[in-house]
Amino acid sequence: MAFKHWPLVRDVRFAQKCGRYLRGARKRRPDLGWDEFLRVARHFKQDDMGSFPERGFLFQLASDAPAGAQVVEVGSWMGASTCFLAAGLKGEDAKVYAVDNFKGLSTCGEDAAWYHRHFRRLGADSTLEIFRANFAALGLSARAEPVVSDSVAAARAMASRQGSIDLIFIDGDHSYEACQADIAAWAPFARRGGVMAFHDFGSRAEGVTRAIFEEIRAGRFAEIIGVAGTIIAFRM
Ligand SMILES: C[S@@+](CC[C@H](N)C(=O)[O-])C[C@H]1O[C@@H](n2cnc3c(N)ncnc32)[C@H](O)[C@@H]1O
Repeated sequence: MAFKHWPLVRDVRFAQKCGRYLRGARKRRPDLGWDEFLRVARHFKQDDMGSFPERGFLFQLASDAPAGAQVVEVGSWMGASTCFLAAGLKGEDAKVYAVDNFKGLSTCGEDAAWYHRHFRRLGADSTLEIFRANFAALGLSARAEPVVSDSVAAARAMASRQGSIDLIFIDGDHSYEACQADIAAWAPFARRGGVMAFHDFGSRAEGVTRAIFEEIRAGRFAEIIGVAGTIIAFRM
C-alpha cells in the first residue's frame, strides 16, 4: 500500500486539505451549511473522483437551487458526487435522479481500463449496491433515485420532465461523441434559468472540452456561472 494510503497518513492529509478548503469556503459563502459538506466529505475520505473545490462547487450549486429542486446527474459511479449534490438540497421533494448503467462502461480506452481494474478489485460487476449503501449511511436515501440505464435511453424515458430540471450535472462517458450526445439529450430538460454543469472540462478528457466549446460557440448556454477545478457550470 502506498504511504499516502496508510490510514493515519490519509486522515492527516484529509484534515489538512479539507480544513484548508473549508476555511476559504466558509469565508466566501458563510450562508451555506458547510458542516453538512464536511459530514459527506468525511464519509468519502477515500474517494478519488473529485477534489474538494469540485465537490464544494457541486454542494454550492445544489444549495443555491430552489427548495424542492429536481436534479439530474449523468454518471454517478458510487454516488460520491451525487451525495454532495443531495446534501446541498433543501425541501422534502428535492431529488437527484442518478442516471448510470452502474457498470462503468466507457467508450474512452483509458477509462474503460480503469473501470475494469476497479471492478476486478471490487469483485462485483455493478456499483449500484455501493451507491445505495453510501446514501443509506449518510441518511440521504430519500433524496436520490437511481435510474439504471444508458444516459440517452434514460433521457428518452424521462421526456415528460423536459423543461423542469433545476440542475443537471454531466459526468458520464468522456468521449467527444458521448458528451455531445449527453448535451443534446439532457439540455432540453433544464428549466429556463436552471443550471447545467460538467465535470472534466479542460482535463485530459479532451473530447469533453471540445464538445462543451462547440456548444458555447453555438450559443447553447446563457452564461457561465462558475468554474472549480475541472467543473464548469452554465446558466440555461
Ligand atoms: C467518472 S464516473 C462518475 C463519477 C461520479 N460523478 C463522481 O464524481 O463520483 C462515470 C460514470 O458514468 C457512467 N457511464 C458511462 N457511460 C454511460 C452511459 N452511456 N450511460 C450511463 N452511464 C454511463 C459509468 O458507469 C460511471 O459510473
